[in-house]
Amino acid sequence: QESPHIYTREEVKAHSSLETRIWVTLGSEVFDVTEFVHLHPGGPSKLMLAAGGPLEPFWALYAVHNQSHIREILAQYKIGELSPEDKAPSTLKTSDPYADDPIRHPALKVNSQRPFNAEPPPELLTENYITPNPIFFTRNHLPVPNLDPNTYRLHIVGPPRGQSLSLSLDDLYQFPKHEITVTLQCAGNRRSEMNQLKEVRGLEWRAGAISTARWAGARLCDVLSKAGHQPCETEAHVCFEGLDSDPTGTAYGASIPLARAMDPEAEVLLAYEMNGQPLPRDHGFPVRVVVPGVVGARHVKWLGKVSVEPEESYSHWQRRDYKGFSPSVDWDTVDFDSAPSIQELPVQSAITEPKDGEMVESGEVIVKGYAWSGGGRAVIRVDVSLDGGLTWQVAELDGEKQRPRKAWAWQLWQLRASVPPGIKELNIVCKAVDDSYNVQPDTVAPIWNLRGVLSNAWHRVHVRVAP
Ligand code: HEM
Ligand code: MTE
Repeated sequence: QESPHIYTREEVKAHSSLETRIWVTLGSEVFDVTEFVHLHPGGPSKLMLAAGGPLEPFWALYAVHNQSHIREILAQYKIGELSPEDKAPSTLKTSDPYADDPIRHPALKVNSQRPFNAEPPPELLTENYITPNPIFFTRNHLPVPNLDPNTYRLHIVGPPRGQSLSLSLDDLYQFPKHEITVTLQCAGNRRSEMNQLKEVRGLEWRAGAISTARWAGARLCDVLSKAGHQPCETEAHVCFEGLDSDPTGTAYGASIPLARAMDPEAEVLLAYEMNGQPLPRDHGFPVRVVVPGVVGARHVKWLGKVSVEPEESYSHWQRRDYKGFSPSVDWDTVDFDSAPSIQELPVQSAITEPKDGEMVESGEVIVKGYAWSGGGRAVIRVDVSLDGGLTWQVAELDGEKQRPRKAWAWQLWQLRASVPPGIKELNIVCKAVDDSYNVQPDTVAPIWNLRGVLSNAWHRVHVRVAP
């Protein structure tokens, strides 16, 4: 019997396109699945996400693959084995402050490695209503702290005649457990479209800086009440501090109005569970804030301290970032004190399938995407056009029931539309309407801003139709 061919991970990685052929690994086995890509029942683009690397992280998300007939399909394509030293992923330790960051899912499209910022690819983003934890978008400003759940304490600063609390995780579990589905969106979602018009400063997020999870934890209003805080008439703010900090010791921080924090209907959580699991490290283990309907920046992760202050948080991210400006404002003229911090986000929608530049079959096209609005406003309709906005069809909405004023989570949508013969290309556009009848602007030009936030123009995808 011939001994199997031995390959390194590097060699496997070099085979990740149709030109170089497509290799994947499962355990220590190497497969050339080039011929199978177009036969994949889940579609070629999903299989391609694993090209040049291991299948396990993807198959862990799509358990449909745990069947013997799938192993048999794969077995036909076996070409060899991984070299013994390559079987376990290498561990690299350095003095790099990011060296202790967690291992991430290979499907994530990385916008910046240090700090880690990444989004799920569009074709996985709307595959599930609830985003699986490993591919939930990640927005970190600093290295991920490695916190010990046994010694972790959350400090709640009490009012003058109340009491400050130092809560262990067990203490937090004693408060009534509240569970809700909430979509989190970064203010920079879809920034790349603004950048195409005119340069903006920030990470090049495409349409994936948004994800949805079931969050569970204690309600912030219950914890604040325990410390003696009361809803008050005067303008006050609840300030949050993270346990992630830069080399100068400055921690991530943000704030929300006390009125929202104390309103039980606003359902602000000190969350310790995400989709039934303890929070993953990237998403704030062991405790983060979840502020339904509000921009991601206020959902402070690795929460260390909560205090009630007469003013908004003095954090850079509250005062010198995450604000919107007129298109005419540039870095020489910008006055950050002149604009309010972003809290509730405007109505948003995007197309996840087909992908820009793709070739689709004539006859029928299936267009998919997501739609969401801030402040608990429900999405009532998504309009889709195949001709750049001349004519519109109404998409089918799918998702959890939207509670009035508490529609915290997105709706996924889909449209099956016929593509008459002879049409060579489609200019697909989508736009959503929320229950206040807010709509999205048709282009980015009038909403362009130097920081590239609040990018919610009609989303457009151009595809060619196969002859
Ligand atoms: C479905 C094989 C890689 C995502 C399937 C099915 C097969 C298959 C046979 C149909 C299952 C059934 O209905 O019984 C394979 C093989 C792969 C591979 C041999 C590797 C060479 C991947 C990867 C992903 C993926 C990397 C994800 C990113 C999916 C999805 C479905 C599916 C989402 C379900 C589609 C649906 O529900 O309509 N795959 N797959 N597959 N696959 Fe894969
Ligand atoms: N909290 C801390 N402590 N540090 C951070 O860098 N990033 C914020 C927010 N909370 C951040 C944070 C921003 S800008 C966003 S959009 C969300 O976390 C992203 O949450 P996620 O990484 O779980 O998707």
